[in-house]
Amino acid sequence: MSFSKVLNITCLPIINMSSKVKEELVNMLNKALELEHAAYVQYLSHAEIVDGLNCEPIIERLKEIASDEAKHQEIFRTLIGDYLGGVPSMGIAETKSAKTIQEILEVNLEDEKAAVDFYVQILKKIAQEKENLPYEYLKLEHEVRHVIMDEQEHIAELKKLLGLK
Ligand SMILES: [Fe+2]
Ligand SMILES: [Fe+2]
Repeated sequence: MSFSKVLNITCLPIINMSSKVKEELVNMLNKALELEHAAYVQYLSHAEIVDGLNCEPIIERLKEIASDEAKHQEIFRTLIGDYLGGVPSMGIAETKSAKTIQEILEVNLEDEKAAVDFYVQILKKIAQEKENLPYEYLKLEHEVRHVIMDEQEHIAELKKLLGLK
């Protein structure tokens, strides 16, 4: 059997598997990007409707979290475009309105938890497909883990503002 024949038999399925995996990850990361678009505008909109005594620290914190979400968008766009050869989504997930500070904090806490749950699924998928991502694995793993850690920090901060342990 010639070397090229062996090469075809052994390499072709790996290449196909790798592109299939990349496509699946692009789809997941695009959903994550749309969640980040929604989180960004939701935090900024909610920051504008907070008022009353001692509202300033809450407004400031909501805006700081929004800027973290903007950084997450950039991270996901880079992973999708530069590392997985996909096109970053311009879509946005559903946003939620809230009227009181309590509602704002609760709605965003719920969304942060949902984001962590979904990003953990992405992290698991990346780990499962390590062998198919020889030139992307560490970067993907590192960045998605970093975003999850930020969201966990947001959860801790929102819980603190809500007076929850
Ligand atoms: Fe985020
Ligand atoms: Fe967040």
